[in-house]
Amino acid sequence: MDTIGILGAGAMGSGIAQVAAAAGHNVIICDNYTLALSKASKNIQASLKKMVEKGRISEADAYSLFSRIKFTDHTSDFRNCPLIIEAIVEDVEQKQICFKSMEAVVAEDAILASNTSSLSIAAMGASLKHPERIIGIHFFNPAQLMRLVEIIPAVQTDPAVVQKARDIVDGWGKTTVLAKDTPGFIVNRVARPYYGEALRILEEGIADLSTIDWAMREVGGFRMGPFELMDFIGNDINYAVTEIVFENFYYDPRYKPSFTQKRLVDAHYFGQKSQRGFYDYRDGAVKPEPKKDPALGQEIVNRILAMLINEAAEALYLNVATRDDIDMAMTNGVNYPKGLLAWADEIGIETVVQRMDSLYVEYLDDRYRCSRLLRKMLRENKTFY
Ligand SMILES: NC(=O)c1ccc[n+]([C@@H]2O[C@H](COP(=O)([O-])OP(=O)(O)OC[C@H]3O[C@@H](n4cnc5c(N)ncnc54)[C@H](O)[C@@H]3O)[C@@H](O)[C@H]2O)c1
Repeated sequence: MDTIGILGAGAMGSGIAQVAAAAGHNVIICDNYTLALSKASKNIQASLKKMVEKGRISEADAYSLFSRIKFTDHTSDFRNCPLIIEAIVEDVEQKQICFKSMEAVVAEDAILASNTSSLSIAAMGASLKHPERIIGIHFFNPAQLMRLVEIIPAVQTDPAVVQKARDIVDGWGKTTVLAKDTPGFIVNRVARPYYGEALRILEEGIADLSTIDWAMREVGGFRMGPFELMDFIGNDINYAVTEIVFENFYYDPRYKPSFTQKRLVDAHYFGQKSQRGFYDYRDGAVKPEPKKDPALGQEIVNRILAMLINEAAEALYLNVATRDDIDMAMTNGVNYPKGLLAWADEIGIETVVQRMDSLYVEYLDDRYRCSRLLRKMLRENKTFY
């Protein structure tokens, strides 16, 4: 089987290396920081050990999987790789420099892919002599466990490259969805209101954070509440993605970041990893009790869910992805209990439009404008499915 190249041996690069090696490929993982390579080696071994303990893989298979991964600090080792996935820091200029130097060593038809969460794939292609080989292949964290992968062609990408990349990743047992090269692609765009609207509800004093988390979990059926999830992802990471999406949408108020979260980032209250975030994770800290008021819980869920559905409808309306891919992305990428468009049908398009319009009338803020698609569907008495 072909040897796959991975640039960047951080959290994502080491996870993707494990996925490719599990599918039988030899993998070359490269990082310019040698300590990152030894850390990646340890992390992959620890992850494999866990899988052996859980009986998901035999000890012999874990050993041969690990032996297929080579660690290096020279990109020239990628020379025979037909596919290289870049997973270095989220900085477009650094990524462009890396792609340019990798292009000088690989074959003319090698595919160069980026695992970026939110940057423009077209901008990365612009650094190449053969930009038709650039593509986004966006895994979710942890890559070895999360099934979803977004495939993002840029304006320059050759359709044959899209098909080849998709076939390879599908062959790794992942569920691929196709997304347009727009800020946040599918998941990191459609999920923004889960955080943003929860933060607005908190800032307005409508409910405290543990009540909002309780409502989204117990009333809404989501696996984690928004504040628990932001603390889990890391407020630094989550805030940075919100900020990039906001800037890249030309400051559309729908994606406006929140001062509350910014101040936590300023204070280095990143969440679980720093023991302080929205919640206190230090020994002996007591988690605040939610106010389990069913009417308040439903009001919170209705507002956040309407905003999520509106975002999903707008992504469909603007051809970011198909209906099925949008629903699949949210259930597989962030474990939502239902696809948002299927959920819209269940609640009724009219109810969603009414919820959006009543928010708009109340706030007179563009943030709450209802997607034209929902309004049109209501007029034509249509459903998503
Ligand atoms: N962490 C997530 O949840 C997540 C999820 C999906 C996508 N992503 C994206 O994946 C990419 C990597 O994220 P991460 O969380 O693994 O980051 P990370 O900080 O854990 O790892 C980045 C690695 O890249 C290395 N690196 C930096 N510049 C390099 C260079 N010029 N050449 C070689 N190696 C270099 C660093 O030494 C580091 O080991 C980013 O683009 C990020 O947006 C992250």
